[in-house]
Amino acid sequence: MPVLRLAVVGDPHGAWDGSDHTVLELIRPDALLVVGDLSDGQPQVPALLRRLELPVACIVGNHDTGKDASGRILRRQIDALGPLHCGWSLRHLDPPGLVVVGARPGSAGGGFHLSKAMLAAFGPLSLQESADRITQSALSADAALPLVLLAHCGPSGLGSEAADPCGRDWKKSACDWGDQDLALAIRQIRERRPLPLVVFGHMHHALKRGDGMRRTFCIDRAGTLYLNAACVPRHGRDGQGRELRHFSWVELESDGEGKATVLWASHRWYGLGGELLYEEVLHQAASPRPEVLQPC
Ligand SMILES: [Fe+2]
Repeated sequence: MPVLRLAVVGDPHGAWDGSDHTVLELIRPDALLVVGDLSDGQPQVPALLRRLELPVACIVGNHDTGKDASGRILRRQIDALGPLHCGWSLRHLDPPGLVVVGARPGSAGGGFHLSKAMLAAFGPLSLQESADRITQSALSADAALPLVLLAHCGPSGLGSEAADPCGRDWKKSACDWGDQDLALAIRQIRERRPLPLVVFGHMHHALKRGDGMRRTFCIDRAGTLYLNAACVPRHGRDGQGRELRHFSWVELESDGEGKATVLWASHRWYGLGGELLYEEVLHQAASPRPEVLQPC
């Protein structure tokens, strides 16, 4: 069965440059997924992503509006990403054989809220209409390929504590800050086809006020895995002075009939020479039990 190796970029906030391209050339994922907040509306990151030769899918986040309520900067960023952008739409990455469907672009979380920039760029729509756009995109995809949902903010329903994958941590009263249209879309999609993985960002890993670190991974009862990739800043340096570049990493085994198993999920910090310096393993599929040989 083919195994897809996916690198996921969480919330660059401008931390994306040629060094990331060099690392990608060395570690050679099969595809790159980018969860948005590329910057505050500057054109450099979309232009760089367009130059990558590997398959890329991207969605814009709330910071990609550049705080421009007219929606023009948001539109400009989406246009600059061109076919890479899959907000409310489908992107076939084949090769390597993957369907990526984008959730609502420009989300700042909080259930269902459209900013002035989003309203200006896309017009009004309801929670149900947004969920239906995501669902219809997923259901129009090649059913033989595994499906991944790509969102800026994750879905509601993953917990209401500050440290939960989409938990609000910047006010004392913690709550579930996930997107309800995405949660509805997930339920609708799973009535018709399997959904192994949802990747997102927006809710940064380090909690506000030094309250520790966020839980960045979970699995629901239906077997869908949720990965928050927003390690911010994703460019860093370790105690030995070595430059680090963060990527989340997922290995997905497809059965060729639309079902897929996530074999591995982790956060990885690479050196500039592509060496894997640190890894936080989030998930490892149970290896099959070795066959017990009966004595003759
Ligand atoms: Fe964000």
